[in-house]
Amino acid sequence: MALKITVIGTGYLGATHAAAMAELGFEVLGLDVVPEKIEMLSAGRVPMYEPGLEELLRKHVAGIEGSSGRLRFTRDWAEVAEFGDVHFICVNTPQKQGEYACDMSYVDSAVDSLAKHLGRPALVVGKSTVPVGSAERLAARIAELAPAGGQVELAWNPEFLREGFAVADTLHPDRIVVGVRSERAERILREVYATPVGEGSPFVVTDFPTAELVKTSANSFLATKISFINAMAEVCEAAGGDVAKLAEALGYDERIGDKFLRAGIGFGGGCLPKDIRAFMARAGELGADQALTFLREVDSINMRRRRDMVELAREAVGGDSSFLGKRVAVLGATFKPDSDDVRDSPALNVAGQIHLQGGQVTVYDPKGMENAKRLFPTLGYADSAVEAVRGADVVLHLTEWREFRELDPAALGEVTARRLVLDGRNALDPARWRAAGWTYRAMGRPRA
Ligand code: UDX
Repeated sequence: MALKITVIGTGYLGATHAAAMAELGFEVLGLDVVPEKIEMLSAGRVPMYEPGLEELLRKHVAGIEGSSGRLRFTRDWAEVAEFGDVHFICVNTPQKQGEYACDMSYVDSAVDSLAKHLGRPALVVGKSTVPVGSAERLAARIAELAPAGGQVELAWNPEFLREGFAVADTLHPDRIVVGVRSERAERILREVYATPVGEGSPFVVTDFPTAELVKTSANSFLATKISFINAMAEVCEAAGGDVAKLAEALGYDERIGDKFLRAGIGFGGGCLPKDIRAFMARAGELGADQALTFLREVDSINMRRRRDMVELAREAVGGDSSFLGKRVAVLGATFKPDSDDVRDSPALNVAGQIHLQGGQVTVYDPKGMENAKRLFPTLGYADSAVEAVRGADVVLHLTEWREFRELDPAALGEVTARRLVLDGRNALDPARWRAAGWTYRAMGRPRA
């Protein structure tokens, strides 16, 4: 009999995982505690912007015409426990208010709610990003609570999906990591992932702590790579070098690689910043804090980029101490393109700082407007890039959407007060903008 799968928590990770499991041919039941989410998903709608996800969902949600009917949603824990052979825990683990550590309350309460109802054999699989040591603790909790006792087991299977590529990353993962304590758990997970493994995704079997650490160390490495190139941008600025050329040349070295070497206003989002902080906090608890002190530097280089962008803008508009009376157009609000996510967005952070210092800021983003307005209702917003830059003293390019790369600098220049663009993502083509009469400036690159 084919395994039946449940997915607990239907945010980014869970909604994508549930749809992907249905696509792989499994019967899937998703659970969330938020009624509106269940309603939306049951109607085949996704509560966030993620390319391809809604289509995949509609292909499988029961009750939608022409769907496979393999995917349903519920709020009932007993139903989930009764239904599933494998339960994926996909709830989020945000940063604690006022602390570096991660907030495990959603994971803890999901595991407790589920375990109490587990009266038959099952594998509970943690996917959330958690501090190392959590799996061991949760396994003990499940053993204590589950009526089926030893027939219920835990495994840890971190998720590496990127926003904007969530569907492809889930269906064709570049690796599958499973932390297990038994052959049975490994066998079940091999069955779940038989399709991607058959297509060549490496399947790495580890113990609990290693599986948990793969995720936090991968994100730490990525964050470090970005802060490395941003530190080089600072040096380039001091020395008169060009960080874009530097990154290109470094990238040809296969050991370094050319990915994640784009200098700019740095990383944000719901993962990298909070994950490196939680990792530092956890290392401290384990007495290994010295090993991760470099992450403090990675974090501060990253946060400094936002401040430096504000300074670059201030200098560009000629304001000595404030942005008073200056019109600043901000292109981009999300933390990265192809997403509507504004959590810890460097773009919005810069926009907010300039606004608080008296600038008249107008923001435009292709997908992030609603979320941005909710977070920063006092900023000005425009419905298009052209409207945002109308009358602007300076244009800030802060999220590297394709739409912005394809803008016509000559047409934009017709409506701005000055042709001055600051590229916070090193993603626009300086030659094109300069040819259209713009002054182009970017962090870590020479002024031409
Ligand atoms: C990240 C990890 O990539 C993913 O594997 C993990 O599962 C979750 O965290 P995501 O948060 O979607 O994914 O964002 P990512 O694509 O990694 O980008 C993070 C940030 O770094 C963005 O703000 C992006 O603009 C910035 N970035 C990325 C740079 O500033 N320079 C680069 O060269 C690359």
